Amino acid sequence: MAAKKAIESFSKALVDDVQRWAEKKQTGVSLRYMTEFGAKPPEKFLLISSQFLHKELPARIARRAVELENLPFGLSQKPAVLKVRDWYLDSFRDLRSFPEIKDSSDELAFTQMIRMIKVRHNNVVPAMALGVQQLKKDLNPKAVSKDLQEIHQFLDRFYMSRIGIRMLIGQHVTLHDPDPEHSLIGQINTKMSPMHVARIASEDARNICLREYGNAPEVNIYGDLNFTFAYVPSHLHLMVFELVKNSLRAVQERYMNPDKDAPPVRIIVADGIEDVTIKISDEGGGIARSGLPKIFTYLYSTAKNPLDVDLGVDDGVTMAGYGYGLPISRLYARYFGGDLQIISMEGYGTDAYLHLSRLGDSQEPLP
Ligand SMILES: Nc1ncnc2c1ncn2[C@@H]1O[C@H](COP(=O)(O)OP(=O)(O)OP(=O)(O)O)[C@@H](O)[C@H]1O
Ligand SMILES: [Mg+2]
Repeated sequence: MAAKKAIESFSKALVDDVQRWAEKKQTGVSLRYMTEFGAKPPEKFLLISSQFLHKELPARIARRAVELENLPFGLSQKPAVLKVRDWYLDSFRDLRSFPEIKDSSDELAFTQMIRMIKVRHNNVVPAMALGVQQLKKDLNPKAVSKDLQEIHQFLDRFYMSRIGIRMLIGQHVTLHDPDPEHSLIGQINTKMSPMHVARIASEDARNICLREYGNAPEVNIYGDLNFTFAYVPSHLHLMVFELVKNSLRAVQERYMNPDKDAPPVRIIVADGIEDVTIKISDEGGGIARSGLPKIFTYLYSTAKNPLDVDLGVDDGVTMAGYGYGLPISRLYARYFGGDLQIISMEGYGTDAYLHLSRLGDSQEPLP
């Protein structure tokens, strides 16, 4: 089946509307703003929040839909990318056809709708990965890294925007929770213990390692157990999980011989004034200096690619394979003003420095 431009599958009115909304200014929100706003009494902020989202989400989604339609090297025409574009257009249409929100019953219906939008977009990352993979097969292997630079930058913008959209929807939806734990404001935990989250994420990564290799190195965590700060635990979990998974894989592959004890992965949590920094150190042999520029790109992985699987099946996680762990984790860190750096000593091991901004007032990046 030939690839269809949006105009062929969607009405002209809708496509024009998308163009118009893609030009609109996006409005960013900081972690601090979300925390302060969400602490107000619900009857006030839920209505205001839904009215804000009713305008903000179509603007953000339209931008992405337009970009998805105009990607270089024919990426837009790959079936998996078309599918993603259709999800964006469907969501845009749902939002735009929703009438003005006037009272709490409108607000509830709107919340239900955006909850569904979030679910619709659950598989965007593997779908895009598949599309890019399909493209990579067509490209001249020699030209690959330079050509893909543009695609890489697009994906960075695209996924950053997705993090923001999902944060906004998730925040609004969870603020409906009638009986939240007292330190929770939506998805933000005002008293998040990074040690606690790091422990759970490490255990989750170890379990996958156990499943895949039949064995898993220890993970030791050092830091102040009582220290807490305001952050989104699910974001931190994702980042530590990805980093520990990488470390476990590196150590495990280096210490295949069961006679030698695999050295533990060490996590250090430091609470500074500006940043909370989490260092994840392994003795997995490091990364060659020539390979370092590639590790944050979306197409580089030294693992076997698990992508030729049916998109519908979301059986979830493997140790490695997409080449997405590092670039996506860095986006999550940057989303709230942090960063991720990888320092390697080839022949010995790797240190990942995950910086999280403590102040929470950094401006939301709006690609
Ligand atoms: N701690 C580490 N030690 C050695 N190599 C590493 C380490 N972390 C990352 N790498 C290298 O960087 C590559 C990219 O890592 P990244 O996490 O982005 O993708 P991946 O692990 O291959 O796949 P996945 O998408 O499942 O995470 C890895 O394939 C590996 O070669
Ligand atoms: Mg990884």
